[in-house]
Amino acid sequence: MSASLDIPGGNYCGHSRQFVWNATPDPEISEVGPGTPCGEYLRRYWLPVAMTSEIGTLPYRLRVLGEDLVLFREKQGQLGLVHLHCCHRNMSLEFGIVEDGGIRCSYHGWKYGLDGTILDTPCEPPASQVRNRSRLGAYPVVEFKGLAFAYLGPSEFTPAFPMMDTFSDDNDELYPYLIKSPCNWLQVMENAWDPFHVVYLHTRAVRSQFIEAFAEMPKIEFYERQYGDFYTNTRRVGDIIWVRVHDLMLPSFTQNCGHFPVPDGSRYFGRCGLSRWITPIDDSNSMVVAWRHFREGDDPRGLTDRTRVGYGKTDFYGQSGDRDYETRQRDPGDYDAWVSQGPINVHSRENLAFTDRGVAKVRRKLRAAIRALKDGTNPVQPSDVYDPPIPTYGGDTMLRIPEQPERDDAAILKTTAKEVARIYQSADSLVGAERRELIVRLLKEFETSWES
Ligand code: FES
Ligand SMILES: [Fe+2]
Repeated sequence: MSASLDIPGGNYCGHSRQFVWNATPDPEISEVGPGTPCGEYLRRYWLPVAMTSEIGTLPYRLRVLGEDLVLFREKQGQLGLVHLHCCHRNMSLEFGIVEDGGIRCSYHGWKYGLDGTILDTPCEPPASQVRNRSRLGAYPVVEFKGLAFAYLGPSEFTPAFPMMDTFSDDNDELYPYLIKSPCNWLQVMENAWDPFHVVYLHTRAVRSQFIEAFAEMPKIEFYERQYGDFYTNTRRVGDIIWVRVHDLMLPSFTQNCGHFPVPDGSRYFGRCGLSRWITPIDDSNSMVVAWRHFREGDDPRGLTDRTRVGYGKTDFYGQSGDRDYETRQRDPGDYDAWVSQGPINVHSRENLAFTDRGVAKVRRKLRAAIRALKDGTNPVQPSDVYDPPIPTYGGDTMLRIPEQPERDDAAILKTTAKEVARIYQSADSLVGAERRELIVRLLKEFETSWES
């Protein structure tokens, strides 16, 4: 028997790097509560807060941006969103009575209208003026395609609802879903600005969670607009140059491409598989609230499944924590990536690299917008820049452009990506079929220009 054990050699630094565990999160872009700079910025936008299928006849308690609230559908069908606690003596309105035109507290019967006006104080003497002295906090809500959107900002700055071109397409069915994550909103949002994780986490790490072709390292180009950025994610698959275009709109809206595309032929201006917001619940909890898009022809291999899209679930891998721990360890998904960064990711412990430029960019832009608001400049709204429907680009274009003898293929990919982006943008002033026809015609002309 050996008298001693070999100690492994190497330059171990665990002890000298223990300082990293004392680093703290970056509150300026992660804290969301009332009065915080980031929280006030987020409150300037319409955010989805619930799936309307969850709103029954009882009040629905929820937490958004660190505020405890109650959402309810009054008897005429209108949605109301109010502070959780009755403004008489603070009983929770989750135990309230939903009535015509508002909600009534079950403690002493004070009734509130949708805007928080006190409508009735049945236990008070008839001459009581208490109803004129106070109000219940309330927020406007709009309901659209199975989602309830709320605006929690100052009422004088209520923006128009951001109606995107992808929200009302006749050939498209929108299925809402909502999935909560026990982590800060920013790390879920940043996942969409990080195209390179698709190569590794979704394809090379264990198995192809979407399509094998994602294993190929893409060429990424970012493009800025007055409101809303986008990026092109370009790969060659045989004779096909496949350009995936993702919309990235602050504070948290993104649209990606098709989920299970097959790059085996030309495809012009395919549209997004997902329209998605990240809504903060509080500093260390958030929710993905989204629509999955289902269109004829988008899923040649039949991998989508409408029945798996809904509250707490969706039809693509790794978006929630409902897999057993061993499965999550053996084949982690997006949820495991962003939740395991911690309740609030500590940026000073990271080492950002070249492929993190999307993440760096979104943090920079977010910080600038938050600081601008703090200094009195209102954030840009989509409706400041575009008449609705707002043109977006998310989706796939596939062009048959074989490799060219004696030409650098990387340069061809880059030229193609930039031209696709230019063509998409050139049709911004058009809508519907007219816009699509122009984009498709220009893409075909560009594709055929390579034949000579
Ligand atoms: S606490 Fe609500 S009516 Fe009294
Ligand atoms: Fe992902």
